[in-house]
Amino acid sequence: MNFITSLALIAVAYAILYVIALLFVDCDLRLAWAEKFGKPTDCLAGKVVWITGASSGIGEHISLALARAGVKLVLSARRAYELERVRQSCLKVGKNLKEKDILVLPMDVLEVEKHKAYFQQVIDHFGHLDVLVNNAGRSQRAIWEEIELAVDKEMFNLNVFSVLSLSRIAVQHFMKQNEGHIVVTSSLAGVMAAPYSASYIGAKHAIHGYFDALRLEKMMHNITVTLLCPGPVFSNILADSFTGRPKEKFGKPMEITDRRMSTERCGHLCAVAIANKLDEAWMALPPIIFMVHFLICYPNVASLVTRFLGPKFFVKMRDTKVRMEIKSD
Ligand SMILES: NC(=O)c1ccc[n+]([C@@H]2O[C@H](COP(=O)([O-])OP(=O)(O)OC[C@H]3O[C@@H](n4cnc5c(N)ncnc54)[C@H](OP(=O)(O)O)[C@@H]3O)[C@@H](O)[C@H]2O)c1
Repeated sequence: MNFITSLALIAVAYAILYVIALLFVDCDLRLAWAEKFGKPTDCLAGKVVWITGASSGIGEHISLALARAGVKLVLSARRAYELERVRQSCLKVGKNLKEKDILVLPMDVLEVEKHKAYFQQVIDHFGHLDVLVNNAGRSQRAIWEEIELAVDKEMFNLNVFSVLSLSRIAVQHFMKQNEGHIVVTSSLAGVMAAPYSASYIGAKHAIHGYFDALRLEKMMHNITVTLLCPGPVFSNILADSFTGRPKEKFGKPMEITDRRMSTERCGHLCAVAIANKLDEAWMALPPIIFMVHFLICYPNVASLVTRFLGPKFFVKMRDTKVRMEIKSD
């Protein structure tokens, strides 16, 4: 066997193993590698991390995972009593964390005119900030043509513009201290579209555009950008979702029997991605990671496969069961 043939065989074996691995993992292979062989989350001990949307769900569990690693935390969301509950849990599991190491900073991220003042409160308390995790957000369940423009605007105000506003203030601070890390909880819905959440899909795709641009612009300035992309995860997000009408909530909760990643596992994987400064991290129960890879890498086959599977398949993959009336089917 000559050198070229050996190389070709190695390449084929690598491709086959890669595809097989994707069928079984609950995250992308870079994240899986980082979890096994990368930096432990403890490497973040002593850093100051500000997490928005820390009062429940993924934000709560990122907070707990980071507290276990000895990270100093700023916890933000609107419900101060929930933040206090998360703070107490973090202190309980926290590695060498004292009361003053966890600051509860209640805020509505939509009040962008107050962002500078909130940022100053963080600096007054800790002296600096190392990582900002923009996690606050809401999803959507709605039929495309029935979405009122006011909902698109509410969605972008929450999931895009509030994130940009806080991140711009943080990046100005990071530029002065010559390092910093911006993290945004996007979604697999920001990588690949799903039906019946058009404003949400648009908003999460916009996050990728804005923050991929930031990463390129600041790569020489020691500023890291990480986009966390969970698939379906247990949390309050479904009930709290936007619909097609302004001020309305979807209201239907998840059920324990739904097929979703646990919030604990998601929080841990997010912490690993942050510790290892990954550009993008995907996490979801198998075979979703495989499917997203496949549909993105093979767009021609993807268009045939998606037509064959139909929108209901994607709704079920995301929500386990169809919880809304889908008139178009
Ligand atoms: N769960 C999933 O399946 C999934 C999948 C992909 C991506 N994600 C993303 O993960 C992030 C967290 O969602 P989750 O699943 O953990 O849902 P969740 O349990 O509903 O958490 C949402 C968090 O955002 C906060 N929030 C909402 N509006 C806010 C506002 N105006 N100002 C400040 N905080 C606000 C909520 O706190 P308050 O109500 O106390 O303000 C809560 O802490 C979101 O960005 C979401 O898009 C979730």
